[in-house]
Amino acid sequence: AVAPIILAIETSCDETACAIVDSAGSILAEQVFSQMEHAPFGGVIPEIAARNHLSLLPSMLEQTLAASALKVESLTAIAASTGPGLIGGLIVGSTLGKGLAMAWQKPFIAINHIEAHALTPRLPLPHTLRHTPRVDFPYLLFLASGGHCQCIAVKGIGDYRKLGGTVDDAAGEAFDKVAKMLGLGWPGGAALEALAKEGNPKAYPLPHPMVGRAGCDFSFSGLKTSVSHLLMPYGHDPLPRQMAADIAASFQYAVTHTIEDRLTHALALFPQATALVTAGGVAANMAIRATLADLAARHNKAFMAPPLRLCTDNAVMVAWCAQEIWQAAQKKGIKLADRDGMAA
Ligand code: KG4
Ligand code: ZN
Repeated sequence: AVAPIILAIETSCDETACAIVDSAGSILAEQVFSQMEHAPFGGVIPEIAARNHLSLLPSMLEQTLAASALKVESLTAIAASTGPGLIGGLIVGSTLGKGLAMAWQKPFIAINHIEAHALTPRLPLPHTLRHTPRVDFPYLLFLASGGHCQCIAVKGIGDYRKLGGTVDDAAGEAFDKVAKMLGLGWPGGAALEALAKEGNPKAYPLPHPMVGRAGCDFSFSGLKTSVSHLLMPYGHDPLPRQMAADIAASFQYAVTHTIEDRLTHALALFPQATALVTAGGVAANMAIRATLADLAARHNKAFMAPPLRLCTDNAVMVAWCAQEIWQAAQKKGIKLADRDGMAA
């Protein structure tokens, strides 16, 4: 069989992306466009996101194909994220992908967006881009972004078990909402981290949600409310800079401590894990990364985080996930003509 080459589309949230990846994991061409139209609203507006995907994707696909210097005939299959995510965007990306697959007479591979995040650490990147070697199954994944916050036992391709998740907000969502309260704009996770460097993490005794509880679920909405109570006396007045920095640092400390506690439980639930792996935009946070690396070392596990641009939403991860699924099916002698339907 010829080595498969896969074209993939990602439109589940506010990143419009497409990529072409070969069976060895080489990125033949890639584009990511982060829609900034949502910033004034302080959150992603699904309708605007879907319309942007629709107007951006056709030319992005053309440019990606041109940049790869490949002919359409060289493509083996077309893949797209089909869920979970914002339904309008998912419909745009998956319908376009299916349409191309039909017109070009190629199979269409529906990809679960979470599975794509989960398998990204296995992408065999060149050494220049990676700090630690690619991981093998089984590993524990901590996925934390604006939309997701969960611990997943990754045992093999298609073999996942969710050990815990958030009962309310995702970690990134909490970062964004607190950043907004502190007047740091949206999405403010990175700005909050920068401000926290100037603050004292012990200045405000905020709740460290779920710490000490059984299992590995998360909760961040109470913490967010506690921050809003601290700010109430100030109304719309600007906060003194040092106070804002101290709140940022205390909030980040509460989140980091919660994550450490929850993942300690997750590792106990999944002792087979050889590595602790993190992905999602929150994995960009250096305080959180350092805590995770330390936790992994104490448990004798490898620690691995994909390069930053592959932590946040992108289409390379979708193409790579499709490659893994395709190659696993071929090994088993299954002909993957069509992997259709909306993934849950
Ligand atoms: O994975 P991502 O790009 O998109 C999805 O939400 O799917 O993650 C974006 C999230 C935002 O909530 C953003 O504020 C957060 O990741 N984030 C951070 C940092 N950089 C991005 N949170 C904390 N610290 C950071 N340095
Ligand atoms: Zn995502």
